[in-house]
Amino acid sequence: MAEEKPRQFVGKTEFKKGLEGAITNESSISYVDGTNGKLIYRGFSIDDLCSGGGGFEETAYLLIDGELPKKEQFDAFCKNLAARRAIPQEVKDLITQLAPKTHPMNTLRTAVSMLGCLNKNEFEVNIDNNLDISLSLTAQFPTVVGAIQRIRKGQPIVDPDPSLGHSEDFMRMMTGEPADARTAEVMDMALIIHAEHGMNASTFSAMVTNSSLTDMYSSICAGIGSLKGPLHGGANEATLNTFMEIGDPAKTDEWFSATKEKKQKVMGFGHRVYKAYDPRAVIFDPIAKEFSERAGSGHLHEIAKKLETLVVADLGGRGIFPNVDFFSGVIYNAMGIDTDMFTPIFAVARIAGWAARILEYLPENRLFRPRAVYVGDLESSYTLIDQR
Ligand code: CMC
Repeated sequence: MAEEKPRQFVGKTEFKKGLEGAITNESSISYVDGTNGKLIYRGFSIDDLCSGGGGFEETAYLLIDGELPKKEQFDAFCKNLAARRAIPQEVKDLITQLAPKTHPMNTLRTAVSMLGCLNKNEFEVNIDNNLDISLSLTAQFPTVVGAIQRIRKGQPIVDPDPSLGHSEDFMRMMTGEPADARTAEVMDMALIIHAEHGMNASTFSAMVTNSSLTDMYSSICAGIGSLKGPLHGGANEATLNTFMEIGDPAKTDEWFSATKEKKQKVMGFGHRVYKAYDPRAVIFDPIAKEFSERAGSGHLHEIAKKLETLVVADLGGRGIFPNVDFFSGVIYNAMGIDTDMFTPIFAVARIAGWAARILEYLPENRLFRPRAVYVGDLESSYTLIDQR
């Protein structure tokens, strides 16, 4: 057995892996109440924002600006976002090349990078320019994701229609058809409840990147890269794959026992902050039932409910409950959306939170630069390569 090496770091050596509990900065953007299972954006509960009628546009305004818009501010903001929705032909060409070959999150990340290359003000780092880029990216994400879905299906890209609302046009750009009112409403709710969530991995990645005063596009690419992972936004895709693998509600017990035996995590459960039900899962549960039954895939919601009962009985005492990714995939699947498009939909929402956090931090920016406890050697003697 290797001899345990002395720790060489001078100073504080206690830490929690994954920065658990660490505080990075002050913020007034959102509060994740992990004990009571509540999510608050700038003082307002997500339930009120979902039922208030202002849609994703109102939430994006609230997150980025700090206050709910008055009527004329809201109208101007919606018009502004709609006018920014179009993407350059070069980006459409890039999507046409990449989308059939790679995961949609890779295409989204590369498209954002290209949008940066095409913006002559990319390197201007100040509040006004970063806000301008934030609004453009918030507006353009649905267009890029819609185009990715179309190309993957071998269908032509659908250009934005600025007369439509953000979520309604997003659905139209993905499917080529106007969405029915309920589908557009539910997609809007999905975008609202995914828009912001404290110092999650992708927000932190975007903020760390931006803290070097690099350009906004590089920071958002970092956020996309982080969101893609199965422990974060990629869990929605992984969760639906689990339900598909189980296939039949009657096989849920058997699947869970085998998963437990292998000591594997169940995707769609658990959260670093929530030790109660994730309020977003609470909103999505009945909608998943409604949509899956309507689409003839009610067995997927049944599997989810059986799995929920089993996992909560086993792990609920340790604060492990369904998270937002548990039911979202059942809804998107019922809308006819491909499984690997689920995480890009998350990104279409979360761009608002990434932007708000970056803009909030910028005026008092300080480079993020933590340290690790060095546990390696300090005095190894070097030998030439042919003598090793
Ligand atoms: N299934 C089974 N056991 C779990 C799960 C799960 N989903 N999540 C946590 N645990 C157990 C884990 O095995 C560990 O047990 P032990 O102490 O015996 O080794 C303990 O709980 C702590 O796990 P952890 O991974 O250190 O906890 P964390 O605070 O880092 O957990 C998490 C957060 C989201 C990474 C984790 O719960 C997880 O991997 N969940 C599955 C992936 C998932 O659904 N992610 C989406 C999160 S919500 C959307 C988002 O914000 O992106």
